[in-house]
Amino acid sequence: MGHPSDSLAIRWRNVVVKVYRLRRVSGFSSFGYWLPLLPDLRSSMPAEKIRFDIVTLFPQIFPGYLGESLLAKAIERELVEVHLHNLRDWSTSKHHKVDAPPFGGGPGMLIQVEPVVECIEAVQALSEEEGELLLLTPQGETLKQGVVSSLSENRRMILLCGRYEGFDQRVIDILQPREISLGDFILNGGEVAAMAVVDSVIRLIPGVLGDERSSAEDSFSDEALLEFPQYTRPREYRGREVPDVLLSGNHAEIAAWRAAQRQSRTAERRSDLL
Ligand SMILES: C[S@@+](CC[C@H](N)C(=O)[O-])C[C@H]1O[C@@H](n2cnc3c(N)ncnc32)[C@H](O)[C@@H]1O
Repeated sequence: MGHPSDSLAIRWRNVVVKVYRLRRVSGFSSFGYWLPLLPDLRSSMPAEKIRFDIVTLFPQIFPGYLGESLLAKAIERELVEVHLHNLRDWSTSKHHKVDAPPFGGGPGMLIQVEPVVECIEAVQALSEEEGELLLLTPQGETLKQGVVSSLSENRRMILLCGRYEGFDQRVIDILQPREISLGDFILNGGEVAAMAVVDSVIRLIPGVLGDERSSAEDSFSDEALLEFPQYTRPREYRGREVPDVLLSGNHAEIAAWRAAQRQSRTAERRSDLL
């Protein structure tokens, strides 16, 4: 059974959403305490925390995702803070509407400028660190690993998720956000894209992954190549065997094989990266 100390707190305005989960018992919950004794582990030392503020019409989408796996651990270990803000709370209409039909006609509704600008200004004021404002839109720069890497230099990011047909253009003109796209396709809302930003950025925070080499060796990270093929137990399955070199124990040969595989795999699948 989960114990109250095994819960994760995600702040959604004044409400703390608690996510309970089972955790292995560990006597060393305060890892940082051991670091002065173990200088070779300093790369695992928690960096300055990154704060994400997510502005959305659907905050209830997030806690399930944020409450699992590496993200949950990063929040629990205070490497990451996530605050959720419901854009509807800045509506001035009686029925909490934030959308209206486009001038000039056309299908669908647009998110209005006033609630967005006022919401973002209020959220920016919640912390001394103003942070970088990111607007999730199919018209933005594509979220590639280089973009993720540059985003990870921020100590705070405010992620603005669209819905319907998107935003009144004056949102962009006034707030001048960095516009980020997940790719050349249309989603129903910016929430999945916001989760992709949070998820990809937190992998780069020292201390989040068990082994920092994981992110360095990932596809697109080292010289922008794809990762080499990986194998685990069993050694043989349905006649398919693990390459001998990986069982050889010869680290130099393994490294050379992996480097060659990265090159050939990238040439075969993504020659645009070479
Ligand atoms: C249906 S889309 C609106 C698309 C808009 N009418 C256009 O053609 O550019 C609604 C919202 O989903 C989000 N969205 C859709 N596709 C996206 C993508 N590829 N990357 C990031 N956000 C996306 C944006 O926040 C957008 O405002």
